[in-house]
Amino acid sequence: MRGTRAAKGAMVGLAAAVIAACGSVHAGDLRQQAAAVKKRAPAPSPTPTPPPQRTMDCAHLNCVALTFDDGPGPYTAHLLDVLKAAGARATFFMLGENVGEYKADVRRMALEGHQLGNHTWSHPELPSLSTDAVRSQVRRTQKAIYDASGGVTPTLFRPPYGATNARVGKAVGMPEIVWDVDSMDWRYPNVARNVRVGTREPKKGSIVLFHDIHKTTVDAIPRVLAGLQKRGFTFVTVGELTENQSLAAGRTFPNWS
Ligand code: NI
Repeated sequence: MRGTRAAKGAMVGLAAAVIAACGSVHAGDLRQQAAAVKKRAPAPSPTPTPPPQRTMDCAHLNCVALTFDDGPGPYTAHLLDVLKAAGARATFFMLGENVGEYKADVRRMALEGHQLGNHTWSHPELPSLSTDAVRSQVRRTQKAIYDASGGVTPTLFRPPYGATNARVGKAVGMPEIVWDVDSMDWRYPNVARNVRVGTREPKKGSIVLFHDIHKTTVDAIPRVLAGLQKRGFTFVTVGELTENQSLAAGRTFPNWS
């Protein structure tokens, strides 16, 4: 609104200047001048849109879904560079409380084809919370991710510590994605070890748990990607991996119950 008024003011000023310079002008000239001013106004930059979800035939391809929890953090931007260089897509299960500080990275995840998942607001052990508190943890994080990403609403949830139960699952209202390969990267801040585990342990269809808040994890990922590529793996998001599986709200995948 303010911009429009300022533009109008500028046009009136321009018309006055034209009149002052030329002595007299016709209304038509004024309209042409106004049109010229309008044409020069910069067009608003188009909103970038994320690439469409790919259809990956993970029944036949050697698919692996790398997942990164507890961010975004100070190493997330570098991880995005690394993934981009390898043409790899991943899934980020983010804490709502961290999103505000790294909004640009969250936006980038969406634009570069990664999947954005909800990992609660502040990483509580959900079974010890009231149902209302569980709902609040989920809802606040959904909104933070939606706002930062430019309109992506997560459809997958990961319970902190993998700790959940039927009541929590119902309150969350999304499929709860767990993992079959736990890198234990938070316990072992050792790049060579994380490279070894991350390269050797995944099997066809694995969901691998990493944490992008650790530098020693992010530093391991280029060699993990290269090693897995050598083993013939294709890097997909959890959504792509599970496209033909029936994921249900309140159920864990893989099935831990
Ligand atoms: Ni976590």
